[in-house]
Amino acid sequence: MNVLVTGGAGYIGSHLIRVLAGAGHSCVVYDNLISGHREAVGDAATFVRGDLLRTGHLARVLREHAIDAVINMASFIEAGESVEQPLKYFGNNTLGGLSLLEAMAQTGVKRMVFSSTAAVYGQPESVPILETARTEPINPYGASKLCVEHMLPGFATANQMGFVSLRYFNVAGSHPTGEVGEAHKSETHLIPLVLQVPLGQRAGIKIFGEDYDTPDGTCIRDYIHVMDLAAAHVLALQAVEPGQVKVYNLGNGEGFSVKEIIQTCREVTGHAIPAELSPRRPGDPPRLVASCEKAQRELSWRPQYADIRTIVQHAWNWHREHPKGYSV
Ligand SMILES: NC(=O)c1ccc[n+]([C@@H]2O[C@H](COP(=O)([O-])OP(=O)(O)OC[C@H]3O[C@@H](n4cnc5c(N)ncnc54)[C@H](O)[C@@H]3O)[C@@H](O)[C@H]2O)c1
Repeated sequence: MNVLVTGGAGYIGSHLIRVLAGAGHSCVVYDNLISGHREAVGDAATFVRGDLLRTGHLARVLREHAIDAVINMASFIEAGESVEQPLKYFGNNTLGGLSLLEAMAQTGVKRMVFSSTAAVYGQPESVPILETARTEPINPYGASKLCVEHMLPGFATANQMGFVSLRYFNVAGSHPTGEVGEAHKSETHLIPLVLQVPLGQRAGIKIFGEDYDTPDGTCIRDYIHVMDLAAAHVLALQAVEPGQVKVYNLGNGEGFSVKEIIQTCREVTGHAIPAELSPRRPGDPPRLVASCEKAQRELSWRPQYADIRTIVQHAWNWHREHPKGYSV
């Protein structure tokens, strides 16, 4: 298939286009480079610089490249920032999503895989979280993505489009060859933040709360290797059916505490990594772990890199070789 990957110059997109190419697909990356990197695309895909909000330009690109399917990853991604700047998130993620749907409707492109997030669930009532769980996001980032999910059934019915919405949990790791990796300009994810300590970029790591109802008192999160996540997209593309919206969680189905992640980073890097206790952050649920049974059952998805040590090792391989991301 000819696949348009919006946001394909970002962390996950740069891995995804390589996995798609390996599966025989031909990719066009559509990205405004606001947080992505041209080098992360390399020659793995055709690159078009453009903004999701430019509906007419998007429609032209869809036509010119005879696109069969779209994977919409372009987005702002910082939950904390979205609380301060909701307009930025609804303006880009929600309106950008609508603009893309309009361009697809205009040009008759009928398949889309949408990058959604575990943030649509907010504070879960029970764990592991099923796709049928209540969706009540607690920040504008999660809400901006849920708004797009809410648009999909209407387009599926009116335009006979098909959608698969993938709700990612914490994505981590890097390409096993080390050719691409995580290089967010402003980093908020735990594993790369912890790895900044052995890189000499931060003195230590803060643990926000040690009194949660978990075995070691720190929050538990579900980490999925970026290559396993990318592989699920190849399967999701095949699962798109006209007139239908399907939703799948993507995680490991297993949680690791903040302390366990820090300890794994110590073991992988051989660095002491000092940790300092800080008060809880408001709105941090104690435990966020996905149920991934639906993706495993319906997509026949089998994660290859579920082991947390491998995830951290691959992340470390990338960061050690590229301490300043793509600028080195
Ligand atoms: N990283 C995670 O752990 C995680 C978890 C859940 C969901 N997600 C979702 O996965 C997707 C990719 O995340 P990532 O970590 O690779 O983020 P990223 O910031 O590395 O990539 C996002 C890309 O989108 C591009 N972009 C943003 N707005 C755009 C616009 N209006 N027009 C064109 N391009 C635009 C950026 O330049 C960047 O290349 C996002 O949709 C995010 O919400 C990520």
